[in-house]
Amino acid sequence: MIVSTAKLFKVAYGRFAIGAYNINNLEQATGLFRGTVMSKAPFIIQISKGARKYTDKRFLEAIIRAAEQIFPEAVFAVHLDHGDEESCNDCIKSGFYSSVMIDASHEPLEKNVEITKRIALRAHERGVSVEAELGQLGGVEEDIVGSVRLTDPDQAKEFVQKSGCDCLAVAIGTSHGAYKFSAEPGKKMGLHFDVIEQIHKRLPGFPLVMHGSSSVPKEEIVRINAAGGKMKDTSGVPEEHFQPAAKLGVCKVNVDTDGRLVWTRVHREFFRDQPDKFDLRDPGKIYIEEYAKMIAHKNEVFGSAGKLDEVRAKVS
Ligand code: G3H
Ligand code: 13P
Ligand code: ZN
Repeated sequence: MIVSTAKLFKVAYGRFAIGAYNINNLEQATGLFRGTVMSKAPFIIQISKGARKYTDKRFLEAIIRAAEQIFPEAVFAVHLDHGDEESCNDCIKSGFYSSVMIDASHEPLEKNVEITKRIALRAHERGVSVEAELGQLGGVEEDIVGSVRLTDPDQAKEFVQKSGCDCLAVAIGTSHGAYKFSAEPGKKMGLHFDVIEQIHKRLPGFPLVMHGSSSVPKEEIVRINAAGGKMKDTSGVPEEHFQPAAKLGVCKVNVDTDGRLVWTRVHREFFRDQPDKFDLRDPGKIYIEEYAKMIAHKNEVFGSAGKLDEVRAKVS
């Protein structure tokens, strides 16, 4: 069942966070549905502009429609990740997406408000939820490499009131990609809980979104490098940070990089250990299972595991 993110957040708010997973192909979609059904969790499928362009956006939509039939128990939102005005309008018009992100966070505050408001008006006419972003995460986002600007809590309140968005992506110390926290002594690793608390105080009851939420497990990096990879030493968001963040209103946590690491590890190990093989389905099957396990584990960490029946009853 496809539902809006606004409906999911009503159930989750202050109790648990919902995993928002980026997908690009059939194997990821299959692993995602298997992992969420296995862990009995509601979830959000995210499609980036890059994913829509990878082959043809209609392939991804058709895969999700098929998955909806193959996994009738699944409850999820279909969300455009980091949209601009053009892609948001296209997704709103399509009638398929239940949620869009308008990312005008690189614009000055007033312009960000103006653009977000325009999208919110159109989206709400069609029952589509809108995520906006305030602040700058840093790291690699689509093809932009940016520097960090934490969200200003006072601006966050003003932005939400003026723009009409349904949830807000906040910059609270994370960044996109595999290299999030530098190992320099004295540098802060993990989330700025002081900033989340300040935003929560000014916007009680309003759903917050955390981008750049991959945990970048050391074990994956070690295995990738042992199988010929050349990744630098790195770390991501500590798993124990998610549930305290959820108590402060973080309802949606975005994960892409960790799924890419599973893909890289599975394929590097497969071809290292079986250099004579050439059937793409052999590593594909392993990847689907490993990705499903990763998703189920994340849902446990976020607190959404086991909430599927309750969510279905409340959103139907
Ligand atoms: O925030 C960016 C997401 O990880 C999507 O990445 O634009 O390479 O699909 P992508
Ligand atoms: P990661 O790079 O930490 O997986 O973040 C993904 C993301 O925020 C997608 O919008
Ligand atoms: Zn993001």
